Amino acid sequence: MTDPAVELRDNGMLVALPGGMAYFNYYWLRDASLDCFDPQTLERVFDCSALPTPPRARSARVEGEMLVIEWQAEDQVSQVPLSLLREVQETGRPADPAALPRKLWYGDHLPEILRIPQQAVLTSDTGRAALTRALIEEGIAFVTDMAEDDESLPRLVNAIGPITPSAEGLFFDVRVEIAPTNLAFTAGPLEMHTDLPGEETAPGLQFLHCMANTVEGGLSLFLDGAAAAMALKAEDPEAFALLAGHDIPFFYRHDNWDYRAHQRVIETDVDGEVTGVTISQHLQDFMDLPQDLLDRYYPALVRFIRMMQEDRFVIRYRSQPGTCVVFDNHRIVHGREGYVAESGLRHLRGCYTDRGALRSTYRVLARRGFTGAEADRVVA
Ligand SMILES: [Fe+2]
Repeated sequence: MTDPAVELRDNGMLVALPGGMAYFNYYWLRDASLDCFDPQTLERVFDCSALPTPPRARSARVEGEMLVIEWQAEDQVSQVPLSLLREVQETGRPADPAALPRKLWYGDHLPEILRIPQQAVLTSDTGRAALTRALIEEGIAFVTDMAEDDESLPRLVNAIGPITPSAEGLFFDVRVEIAPTNLAFTAGPLEMHTDLPGEETAPGLQFLHCMANTVEGGLSLFLDGAAAAMALKAEDPEAFALLAGHDIPFFYRHDNWDYRAHQRVIETDVDGEVTGVTISQHLQDFMDLPQDLLDRYYPALVRFIRMMQEDRFVIRYRSQPGTCVVFDNHRIVHGREGYVAESGLRHLRGCYTDRGALRSTYRVLARRGFTGAEADRVVA
């Protein structure tokens, strides 16, 4: 018996949903059936390639909140939740609590950035949800009142995800070194950049824990690269198209390592929305785009770099000991003003985790009801 809310076709069926009749392919429905998933591991244990013939429904009906399907060549009766079908009808995919829209920000945003004590992140789901949500939406947050012991930073990182190593190891120390392997480890100014674009996949989420800062100068600089890129799109669409349309080479090279990778300065999704930026003049390799294309590419890059020095985008502040800034290294562009090395001590300890871990942690929290929304923030 087939329900009037369902209309069977050769390769799929139409199902009446609140948004109208929606078409679903039979393979997709067979794969989405509840019985395809192992209740213990939650993994899919159904192999669609093992079916002797393509799946085709014999009948289908809506029962409560389930679409119930009987198949022509199988005894199996499948159940697919209507809630899943509704989500796919609305957005093309199952709902993702971590798919929060980006909130672009500008040079006046410093007072609005989330500031949350380390203890709130370590000891409460509310605090962890507030931090992870801010990092997804705004790409930056400050964790204050950091404990001073050596395990303080890893404790914070592990509240979000495992520490991911770089060529520097699990941690790196930003301070003046005798034989620096990176401009960051000098007292000179550090132009606006994202970290380590020479790695195959640049680090996702960066932590910089300020351990000491008594020097003259050395202000920390941050901007929202997505906001700057969207401004470039509005003000110079041709430059935007060049930076979003071509990969350029980056490196990280010293005595014992030689990383090389190509990255796109502006990354976009299918809708043309900016999903990330990669910029680092001090780790940019010899350009290998065709030389005549460089006639147009370099001016576009220079324009974008200059935009990233404008006050309308940049926040400047003095890093405070005991505070850890956390930011999305594929979106937030950072730098530092030069300082007088002899005037005191400036020491930031850093490490990375990845953005997949950030979103995973947020989804688990959201599933338990901790969304990090405004009301939760007050509690945090
Ligand atoms: Fe950096």
